[in-house]
Amino acid sequence: MAERILVVDDEEDVRNIVARALKGKGYHVKGISLACDALEEIKDRYELAIVDIKLPDASGLELLAQIRRISPLTEVIIITGYATLESAITAIERGAFAYIRKPLQLGELYQTAKSAIEKQKLTAENQRLVAELRKINRRLENLNRTLEKRVEKRTGELRRSQEETEKKARQLAIINEITSAITSSLDLNEILSVVTEETKKIIRFDRASISLTDGSRMINKVYFLEPAGKKEPEEGLTYPLEGTGIEWVIKNRKPLIREDFDGGGEFVEDEYILTTEVKSGMVVPLIYRGEVIGTFNLGSKEKKAYREEHYQILKQIAGEIAIALENAELYRKLKTYSDKLEEKVAERTEALRSNIRELKEAQERLIQSEKLAATSKLIAGVAHEIKNPLNSMSFATANIEKMLNSGFDMRKTQDFCRESLSILRSDIGRLKEMVDRFMVFTRPDRIELEDADINDIIRQVVKGVEGELRQKGITIVEKYAKRIPVLKLEKAAFHRCILNLLLNSRDALERSGRIEIRSGLADNLVTVEVKDNGYGIPPEIRDKIFDIFFTTKAEGAGLGLSQVYRTVESHRGSITFQSEPGKGTTFIITLPTT
Ligand SMILES: Nc1ncnc2c1ncn2[C@@H]1O[C@H](COP(=O)(O)OP(=O)(O)OP(=O)(O)O)[C@@H](O)[C@H]1O
Ligand SMILES: [Mg+2]
Repeated sequence: MAERILVVDDEEDVRNIVARALKGKGYHVKGISLACDALEEIKDRYELAIVDIKLPDASGLELLAQIRRISPLTEVIIITGYATLESAITAIERGAFAYIRKPLQLGELYQTAKSAIEKQKLTAENQRLVAELRKINRRLENLNRTLEKRVEKRTGELRRSQEETEKKARQLAIINEITSAITSSLDLNEILSVVTEETKKIIRFDRASISLTDGSRMINKVYFLEPAGKKEPEEGLTYPLEGTGIEWVIKNRKPLIREDFDGGGEFVEDEYILTTEVKSGMVVPLIYRGEVIGTFNLGSKEKKAYREEHYQILKQIAGEIAIALENAELYRKLKTYSDKLEEKVAERTEALRSNIRELKEAQERLIQSEKLAATSKLIAGVAHEIKNPLNSMSFATANIEKMLNSGFDMRKTQDFCRESLSILRSDIGRLKEMVDRFMVFTRPDRIELEDADINDIIRQVVKGVEGELRQKGITIVEKYAKRIPVLKLEKAAFHRCILNLLLNSRDALERSGRIEIRSGLADNLVTVEVKDNGYGIPPEIRDKIFDIFFTTKAEGAGLGLSQVYRTVESHRGSITFQSEPGKGTTFIITLPTT
């Protein structure tokens, strides 16, 4: 856009010349002859005013001053026909850009106008920048103020939250302290003393106590925590719950804050509290597993010492106290129970001891009577066994006596004596054999062990009986295991064992019966098996065959198997049998090799 120049001169020629010259240079030029019109026109609309120093209605210098005032961004060039130094100085002082003399040199005019406009532009730009800077500055200042305010606010908030956090941490530390006291000790007094000390760190109080109720209409235990020295539970301190603040708390499961006890009694204990110096108080429920088991009570000598926020802390402490109390109660119950149990165990042990004593005595009595029975059975057996040979022996001796007393016939007497002697010898033999058989039962401890080959013993026994067996038409089959180790045995007794088994088989067989005897070795055990195909053992006597004197035979003594049993047992072996009536029987002796 073209710059605008206002030419103020009363001479029309001058106005025209100047206008023409500057228009030619691309400026927008307007001419005015009066100062008052010029002031109307100029207002911030022209970059430059070219003013004649002498105007009909005012001096050009005056106009200059006014233009500078109302349109400070417009540069002014003063032109004059009669120049004085004074007026030039005044013009410059009043802010004119230049001072040009008439007659006007158009080249000079143009140059000066150009410079003035450049200056004006710079000034305008400068001002704009300054204005902008100011604006920016203002904005920055505003921003700064806002920021400062925000920082201040945040700092305040942070400080508060830090204080809050520190407070919480302190409370937490205290609750931790209480919790660890509860988990590390079972001594209620010790725990309550920790609770009192720790609670003191966060809440002021002059009196503290715990009231417990067991669900009845009574407060039946009170622990005084503060003043110190009253820590022991007051035994037997029981009073009615009704009408107390504690009852209110238990019922409502809420804390009770008493701001001022002077304000008039609400609960029955107030009268008592007024006799102490306590002015305000707080009662907090002790809740364990959802049940109110009592209250935690604090009192202060100051009025209004407690507020809702104290409850928030006390609530947690109360929770811990409830746990401690329940633990202590459980421990007490457990202790009583275990004491009782111990007593019972001791009682029972004593009873058992005396039972065992009685049992032993009874056992001894039983053994004694068993022994007596066995002995009398043995004596009866022995008497029965020796009765026949003794009868026959006394018959033989009576005959000899009779013969000696009658008339003496040598030949007859000799024959008779020989016959009687042979009877006597055979009876004596029978008695001797019987005594031998009984020896097994009478000398159990005197076993004399020798190295023995069990196969040899079997062979000898078979040799002794095979003639008789053959005569009866019985076949005997022998089977011997190889490499049977040498055993430590009482040979004679074992000889008799095998003989007894073979004779029992013989007795169970008819003509053309069969006996098989075999030795064996397996798993460090030696076995001797005697098998027959005789009439077998009926089930009803299976339990009795090893009993002494048990026999089913007319001529039997019932000593055979009991002797076998006794001998095998004294060699740490065992004897078993299988039998099927009508099919046969097998006896198996098992002996250890070591
Ligand atoms: N191999 C067998 N077959 C059938 N019954 C048997 C056999 N061995 C034993 N018994 C039964 O067991 C009973 C007891 O046997 P044990 O050898 O102790 O006495 P006993 O043979 O009767 O008389 P003792 O052996 O004193 O001469 C026998 O009377 C018989 O009834
Ligand atoms: Mg027998």
